Amino acid sequence: MKQISVDDIRKDFPVLNQTINGRKLIYLDNAATTQKPNTVIKSIENYYKSFNGNPHRGAHYLSLKSTEIYETGRKKVANFINASSTREVIFTRNATESLNLLAYSYGMNFIEEGDEIVISIMEHHSNLIPWQQVAKSKKAVLKYLYTNEEGIITEEEIKKKITDKTKLVSIAHVSNALGTINPIKFIIDYAHSRDAKVILDAAQSLPHMKVNVKNLDVDFLVFSGHKMLAPLGIGVLYGKENLLEKIPPFLYGGDMIEYVYEDSTTFAELPHKLEAGTQNVAGVLGLTKAIDYLNEIGMDNIEEMESELTSYALEKLDSLSEIELYGFKGISNRGSVISFNVKDVHPHDTASILDAYGVAIRAGHHCAQPLMRYLGINATCRASFYFYNTKEEIDLFIESLKNVRKWLGYES
Ligand code: ALA
Repeated sequence: MKQISVDDIRKDFPVLNQTINGRKLIYLDNAATTQKPNTVIKSIENYYKSFNGNPHRGAHYLSLKSTEIYETGRKKVANFINASSTREVIFTRNATESLNLLAYSYGMNFIEEGDEIVISIMEHHSNLIPWQQVAKSKKAVLKYLYTNEEGIITEEEIKKKITDKTKLVSIAHVSNALGTINPIKFIIDYAHSRDAKVILDAAQSLPHMKVNVKNLDVDFLVFSGHKMLAPLGIGVLYGKENLLEKIPPFLYGGDMIEYVYEDSTTFAELPHKLEAGTQNVAGVLGLTKAIDYLNEIGMDNIEEMESELTSYALEKLDSLSEIELYGFKGISNRGSVISFNVKDVHPHDTASILDAYGVAIRAGHHCAQPLMRYLGINATCRASFYFYNTKEEIDLFIESLKNVRKWLGYES
């Protein structure tokens, strides 16, 4: 690994250098959203100060400049995920919108009565409810891949659930609630051997590891910019060009048309066919700068840095008798997310007490209620790391955690 100074990295992130209520902020809620480096923040300010115009809609300097910024961003994303062409990259608001687009445009048009849609029990609601709705409308069957006692989806389970009736598999690469890395290459290859298409929810993987759509041979992939240093409100849908060609638009309006007559319309070519209305140019610029930042550090380095942080935290948490850990126990199949509870303490109380120490974690059902029910719990605490976190922060998090039960009057 090239020598990377986390102290230098942290200087690029203004939020990380704040004190909140007199305490140094320890930000461990990166699965919810990540903090932004100065290059991203400044690019947005600079865009609105110097270049703001409506892309694809003007012959003047500002419109042309906005178009150039927007389409340069598309190239940047295509290279980052190794798409074959910029026609395969559609900008959306976030992974949720990308999944809804697929549910309406692909699901509602290509799923028929009696077809099977396979998802996993650990899906975020955004990759679950759209398929429930498609299954209801089309009288299709929604099937779940369940985890075994070790918290993993086995090959046996995959072979049992994906059958010749399966038309679509939509699965998280990394679980936002447990951190489990799913066996997606096996799932994609097996689904293809049954003639099913696969959607990968890469919201929790793409910010943390190299994801190569060609090597995976995945049909569709979605992610959110804000979980990878970019601003809120910009997301991506990747799709193989021949599949995107087939699907009708989800939203209608400006910029997505070719010709409009009183009683009919022809649509623009990809990618514009699937991008109605004025687009988020500043968001795309922020995403471009975010990808530059990640590339500068290197995705391999990021993965290694986070894996070291996560194993360090996991070992410390595992040594505390009052902590209960959820999901897969080891480090090998895990992203940088740890779900846990302090015995006898509601996760919201734990999160509030940690907040008093300046430690930000998430508590709740993590938009994964069926998973919580499957695990027999209501909610967990979740610590999630990014490459800018440090072992010192994890030490402070653990020390704060040791005080939680005391705050609530337990003797030990
Ligand atoms: N999907 C985000 C999370 O897991 C909001 O926290």
